[in-house]
Amino acid sequence: MNHFLDIHTTSAEDLRTMIDQGRAMKDARQGRPRGAPDDEQPLAGHMVALIFEKPSTRTRVSFDVGTRQMGGQTMVLSGQDMQLGHGETIADTARVLSRYVDLIMIRTFDESVVQEMAEYASVPVINGLTDRSHPCQIMADVMTYEEHRGPIKGKKVVWTGDGNNVFASFLHAAQQFEFELVFSGPQQLDPDREYVSMAREAGVDFTIQRDPWKAVDGADLIVADTWVSMHDAQSTRERRHNLLRAYQVNDALMQAAKPDALFMHCLPAHRNEEVTSSVMDGPQSVIFDEAENRLHAQKAVMRWCLGK
Ligand code: CP
Ligand code: NVA
Repeated sequence: MNHFLDIHTTSAEDLRTMIDQGRAMKDARQGRPRGAPDDEQPLAGHMVALIFEKPSTRTRVSFDVGTRQMGGQTMVLSGQDMQLGHGETIADTARVLSRYVDLIMIRTFDESVVQEMAEYASVPVINGLTDRSHPCQIMADVMTYEEHRGPIKGKKVVWTGDGNNVFASFLHAAQQFEFELVFSGPQQLDPDREYVSMAREAGVDFTIQRDPWKAVDGADLIVADTWVSMHDAQSTRERRHNLLRAYQVNDALMQAAKPDALFMHCLPAHRNEEVTSSVMDGPQSVIFDEAENRLHAQKAVMRWCLGK
């Protein structure tokens, strides 16, 4: 069963196939109306359940549109509206949904929910973000980098800010796509220790550089994310802002990287907090291509899951 649970638990070869297929599907749609079906309809007759236990704009719309472009149908479900949010077990929910749908995408809090869903479902399960990782995002990010600058292998990627779920998937991707990764943030918000150890054991070119100015020296790509994630208590907001203020991506920091460095952010962004509007809207920013590529990359992920 091809569950898409994380970047490091999917083979590098399969990841590469998905990125390339996503790009080919994007090219094949050039000049078409957004709602037009693809020539190929690999999801025809297929039903996809999209479950959200946290808010979403991009993940929700891109999975929905992508499924329809490929001929499938979707149902968008909120965890709270399901019995899942009222005491039914994940295992029972997985077994029931498997009798109705062909594919399940879930965004939730604890990663154990996605893992249990995958364990008990008899259809593929896709991780649409947990507190710990966000693999679909990084598929779009790798695709976006390569679309603009060619192979990401050997490039220097610098993450500034919180060592959060999106960073974790970048760390997994550094192993699978063989790029250099630098984390630049305060020690209090260091990345997941288990993932850092795994990356180091796997020989990933990963370093921590507390000084953002030193970190971005020679960078090909600078990445930022919100300072307060959906799973973080709002009561930690002030502390987090105080710890992270020095890591804001602004024009001066961008200028300290390579002249052709790109800027990425998974969005939603908090303008003039983790990144200035001038960088977000500036010539090095590819944030909206990144958002668009969620659609194309995830279409390839869904095809891989379904063996289509
Ligand atoms: N980047 C991302 O996953 O966005 P949404 O939260 O809007 O889905
Ligand atoms: N780190 C953010 C990513 C949102 C797409 C969060 O988890 O809220």
